[in-house]
Amino acid sequence: MAEAAAAAQATAAAQATAAAQATAAAQATAAAQATAAAQAGACAVEPRLVVNGRTRELGEVGGHVTLLEWLRGSGLTGCKEGCAEGECGACAVLVAREDGPGRTRWMAINACLVPAAAFDQQEVVTAEGLGRPGQLHPVQREMAERGGSQCGYCTPGFICSMAAEYYRPGRRPAAGQDGSGQDGSGQDGSGQDGSGAPDGAGTTATGQHYQAPNGSGISATGDGESGWNGAGAGDGEHGANGFDLHALSGNLCRCTGYRPIRDAAYALGQPDEEDPFAARLAEPAPGPAATATSNAQGRYVRPASLAEALELLAVHPDARLVAGSTDWGVELNIRGARAELTIGIERIAELREFSVGPGRIDIGAALSLSEIEARLAGRVPLLDQMFPQFASRLIRNGATLGGNLGTASPIGDTPPALLALDATLVLASVEGEREVLLADYFTGYRQSVKRPDELIKTIRIPLPVAPVTAFHKIAKRRFDDISSVAVAYALKLDDDQRVASVRIGLGGVAATPLRAMAAEEALRGRPWTRDTVAAAAEELARAGTPMSDHRASEAYRIAMLRNSLPKFYAETQEEARPR
Ligand SMILES: Cc1cc2nc3c(=O)[nH]c(=O)nc-3n(C[C@H](O)[C@H](O)[C@H](O)COP(=O)(O)OP(=O)(O)OC[C@H]3O[C@@H](n4cnc5c(N)ncnc54)[C@H](O)[C@@H]3O)c2cc1C
Ligand code: FES
Ligand code: FES
Repeated sequence: MAEAAAAAQATAAAQATAAAQATAAAQATAAAQATAAAQAGACAVEPRLVVNGRTRELGEVGGHVTLLEWLRGSGLTGCKEGCAEGECGACAVLVAREDGPGRTRWMAINACLVPAAAFDQQEVVTAEGLGRPGQLHPVQREMAERGGSQCGYCTPGFICSMAAEYYRPGRRPAAGQDGSGQDGSGQDGSGQDGSGAPDGAGTTATGQHYQAPNGSGISATGDGESGWNGAGAGDGEHGANGFDLHALSGNLCRCTGYRPIRDAAYALGQPDEEDPFAARLAEPAPGPAATATSNAQGRYVRPASLAEALELLAVHPDARLVAGSTDWGVELNIRGARAELTIGIERIAELREFSVGPGRIDIGAALSLSEIEARLAGRVPLLDQMFPQFASRLIRNGATLGGNLGTASPIGDTPPALLALDATLVLASVEGEREVLLADYFTGYRQSVKRPDELIKTIRIPLPVAPVTAFHKIAKRRFDDISSVAVAYALKLDDDQRVASVRIGLGGVAATPLRAMAAEEALRGRPWTRDTVAAAAEELARAGTPMSDHRASEAYRIAMLRNSLPKFYAETQEEARPR
């Protein structure tokens, strides 16, 4: 036994050193190549990436080979294709992403949606890279020992999502717990009965909540450090070890049932000191790379800067901009869409800026929703209410505001919230920048004032934000579903409990997202009472031109609109009640 343990330790140490060396070597090469590529105009080096510690050539993948196809074609068949549209998580892998200066974060994403070319010079880890038979990763061991896997199809995806949460820097045991959950009883100490399914059948404390005017409501940064997961600890979806089950909200299992999976998650301890993946967090993440690759189906270019991207867009206004690819990936896989030229923008520095000034918050259009949630750190309660209802953690790790607004979809979740926040967009082209009120941005079904040679650079939220907010999303499932109707409220009451200001953003009830102007008018300056609300609710029911489709009927949408405002009112009264 002792010999076996020593051998295993020696192997692990050797692997850790090898992985660290490979990563350092790859980073040094990548940095040199990226500089050369940027100088030469984004096409000087062969695209390559580090997978499970080993550098591999990407080859001429163009813009349409997904990371999942590429990994499986490279023999890494652990990651699976279930749905090819971001719904099941069987394809989840880990990527090394920046987590503040000089630090890295392991993020789980859907490999089926993203172009492989977007991972030029990046680091990816698949379930095969985490551990192997005889030397399982703690996540794999817990899943095996607690019966978290039956047919195994979903398992590599669960393992990757779970590993990302295992390494989350802010994951801490609850007070008074050692966090291991491993008391030999197989119990997690959470006192749960196993009903908290990670597929969204459970409940969330961050669902549709009134946010206390003092901002004391649930913040997206429950871990007190960098947000991502961890919101709403104490909502019944967190283990004694701090594990946030929402990390698994994008992973589906058809045969095991979620209790053993949850048991495995809640049994995890903290990474030990020799863990190479934990050690990696203290090193810088791979930098952005200028990339160019093409094949018979089309070209993929990642410009080195915003200026280069805009020049490219000026010459090719019909090029496809791709950020998180959570919309475009579905178009590619399910609808067979193809683009002659794909421009990767999600790592362009100017699109990833974030700043909080005295009068506004500027959010780079290519920051992922998970990154925005972390950087806002609870500053915009309405967005904190929206984030947990937007798809799954896997999707939010990729999805951007630029992508959500770029489609100009009437059922996107961020437009109603941003309309209520009175946001503006900075549109950029080679001709310069212009600022557009979001309320003026949408011009028709999936149409906007954005010209084909422009991209969304920044989303701007004026400060201070309204103190009383809510985001009501009506969908068929609580998590990971598209809205049938979405209503966002931003309200300010004066000292006499009259409506000093109000903005209501709507989605799913017209060809575009829109403001509920008549309902706002019916509230403004009036006392915040049941009678005022009842009258305004009738105006809200008349807002938009809802239609019937596979998600909801016209009558249902109108009923949801009518009910939403009294619900919001009740939430404010509930919150104000002395406890
Ligand atoms: C399983 C699943 C669940 C989903 N759930 C939700 C949900 O709950 N709510 C919701 O609103 N959406 C949802 N979506 C849709 C999608 O995740 C969002 O629309 C997301 O914000 C898109 O961002 P992205 O960066 O991935 O966009 P991409 O796919 O990269 O791009 C989408 C479009 O926007 C354009 N674009 C991207 N960035 C810019 C920019 N900076 N300027 C101009 N144009 C740009 C692209 O050219 C493309 O046409 C879901 C998608 C999936 C697959
Ligand atoms: S294959 Fe289902 S989410 Fe990727
Ligand atoms: S173990 Fe079979 S689908 Fe999850």
